[in-house]
Amino acid sequence: MPMGFPVEGFTSALKYQAQPSDIFLVTYPKCGTTWTQYILLLMQHKGKPLSPSEKLETYIPHLEEVGKESIEKLPQPRVIKTHLPYNLTPYHPQAKYIYVARNPFDCAVSFYHHTRGFIKHYNFADGSFNDFFECFIRGEVDFGDYFDHLIPWYEHKDDENVLFFTYESMKVNLKIIIIKIANFLGGDYLNCIENEQILNKIIDNSSLKNMKINQQRWSSKRPENMPSFIRKGEIGDWKNYFSDEQQQRLKEKFMMRSAGTRLENIWLDKGIF
Ligand code: A3P
Repeated sequence: MPMGFPVEGFTSALKYQAQPSDIFLVTYPKCGTTWTQYILLLMQHKGKPLSPSEKLETYIPHLEEVGKESIEKLPQPRVIKTHLPYNLTPYHPQAKYIYVARNPFDCAVSFYHHTRGFIKHYNFADGSFNDFFECFIRGEVDFGDYFDHLIPWYEHKDDENVLFFTYESMKVNLKIIIIKIANFLGGDYLNCIENEQILNKIIDNSSLKNMKINQQRWSSKRPENMPSFIRKGEIGDWKNYFSDEQQQRLKEKFMMRSAGTRLENIWLDKGIF
């Protein structure tokens, strides 16, 4: 767990009883959580952006940060963010689970900057990518091993109450992903795709450019000399950080852990493998 999170939040989160109307947004850290979280909020609010003084987490809180009591105070239906692995995520057969995956190479780089930037929690401001890489590949980072998170969720990707997609597919065609989300959630969410104006507002307000503005809506302040929380938002930034050896090692771990699954295919066309 991140050092800034109260332990009680975590232990209480595990006891949260999922409700049939709940929508869980599930990710491993740095895989497009905030982007998808904001899209869900925009879909609920007909594309209207959050004002600079509002916080995204007020509407879509992080389960294991705030604990079950705070979630239970929210009106239903609830949208709940979590980084918990499959076996710890509160489950109800009628609840819906949106899972966003990102290739582990870009995830590692994004996680590196995240860890540097939250100085108070990690004391890693001067840490090198090489140091962080060793932690990442051993799974000794917040929320544990990347593959332990992704693979069990991937195995459930075709469950009726799971919608699984990638950060990379959001980058390629966000409109298709929003349509998928709306069809998966149904109800009022369908209004967003039936009305072109609302759909365009959602796409525009969740663009990288617009999400870089007023970042206090989703993140605490970071030092001036650190990249902002919404950083590069690109596919392939990892190529600026990984040595050939690091690339080979993570690729080997990926192949070993995904053996028997078709996992690598989801990033085949993105030049990752
Ligand atoms: P980078 O650090 O590679 O830029 P999370 O919300 O799970 O912590 O994920 C953070 C990553 O998502 C960061 O990646 C961030 O820049 C990226 N991101 C956030 N909003 C985005 C947007 N609107 N478009 C593209 N990428 C976005």
